[in-house]
Amino acid sequence: MERLTSPARLMIVSDLDHTMVDHHDPENLSLLRFNSLWEHAYRHDSLLVFSTGRSPTLYKELRKEKPLLTPDVTIMSVGTEITYGNSMVPDNGWVDTLNNKWDLGVVKEETGNFSELTLQAETEQRPHKVSFYVDKSKAHEVTKELSQRLEKRGLDVKIIYSGGMDLDILPQGAGKGQALAYLLKKLKSEGKLPVNTLACGDSGNDAELFSVPDVYGVMVSNAQEELLKWHAENAKDNPKVIHAKERCAGGIIQAIGEFKLGPSLSPRDVSDFLECKADENVNPGHEVVKFFLFYERWRRGEVENSEAYIASLKASCHPGGVFVHPSGAEKSLVDTIDELRKYHGDKQGKKFRVWVDQVLATESAHGTWIVKLDKWEQSGEERRGCTTTVKFTAKEGEGLVWERVEQTWSEESKLKKDDSSWII
Ligand code: GLC
Ligand code: MG
Repeated sequence: MERLTSPARLMIVSDLDHTMVDHHDPENLSLLRFNSLWEHAYRHDSLLVFSTGRSPTLYKELRKEKPLLTPDVTIMSVGTEITYGNSMVPDNGWVDTLNNKWDLGVVKEETGNFSELTLQAETEQRPHKVSFYVDKSKAHEVTKELSQRLEKRGLDVKIIYSGGMDLDILPQGAGKGQALAYLLKKLKSEGKLPVNTLACGDSGNDAELFSVPDVYGVMVSNAQEELLKWHAENAKDNPKVIHAKERCAGGIIQAIGEFKLGPSLSPRDVSDFLECKADENVNPGHEVVKFFLFYERWRRGEVENSEAYIASLKASCHPGGVFVHPSGAEKSLVDTIDELRKYHGDKQGKKFRVWVDQVLATESAHGTWIVKLDKWEQSGEERRGCTTTVKFTAKEGEGLVWERVEQTWSEESKLKKDDSSWII
């Protein structure tokens, strides 16, 4: 969060399963649309927060399965664990507040008396979260009885039912809503309260997010019955909360537009962005997002196999520009673009997607820009990523010129043996 020196223009706080991630879409299209929009228009001055019921273990698994961006803040285990940045540094101050009237041993003992409860996987049992499965028809009754029993034992807990099957027991002061309130308070104390905050969710454990004061909210179109019921009973008259028409990340994009929180047109929804040079503001980050999207479309054969594209790309490269391939080989940038010709449509009808993460541009000297990003490529069942650095120069009247592109394999991609299938 130190990355930003002033308040974020927008802070998105989103649930993952069935909100950011559509498990019914094997192509991950709405997520990829969101990703491009975020990297294009928000990454540099806004904050991305994921708030999931998953434990750190299952969260990391999801990151391997789906093209998720790297958030600035990760809230896991239903608001009981907060971490910051890429290296996920835990907020120990938050953990300390959760010990009030909480005793894991007592929760385990009391829940043992309910045959309706089936314990979830070991990974999902956390210091401040005990989780079960329970049938929809039993959930209400079990919740009521269990609350009474735990109260008698001197505990102050919160029991949350989600997804029509999951029952979580947390300290009263925990939960996604409380974790968000804590984060907002922390940002405020640093003089960095976001200009706007948008909470996004689909199920019971997200309900609290929508009652945090001054926060916009979107329940995605596919929201669960329990969340819609909660909304009808508690937040029906709040104009800051909408039920989107679109599923998952599509609903998030829709909400950004409806609440006028900033740009809501994803570069993925623009068919010919290489032609649109209308953007007068020099923004090297935009160039990179657009280039890699073009690269995906070129290889999928979704743009015309036209010399004009190659010519336009070459025109934006410095004639002496260098590309350092992740294998270490150095090539000319212009030759690399030339080579692209033979790959037009080679991924047609195949599983092939490209996305960029953490695109950040800094002006290193007047007119010289360094853009750092992670470029990812999913090809069939294989996924690889490269830390990428692009150096641009901005020349009066000529726009941005690509000077140098340098790539190195990300940790998990180093182990793969074949370097030759990676073009750029
Ligand atoms: C995630 C967690 C699970 C929890 C559920 C609802 O699926 O893995 O433990 O019960 O979210 O919060
Ligand atoms: Mg969910």
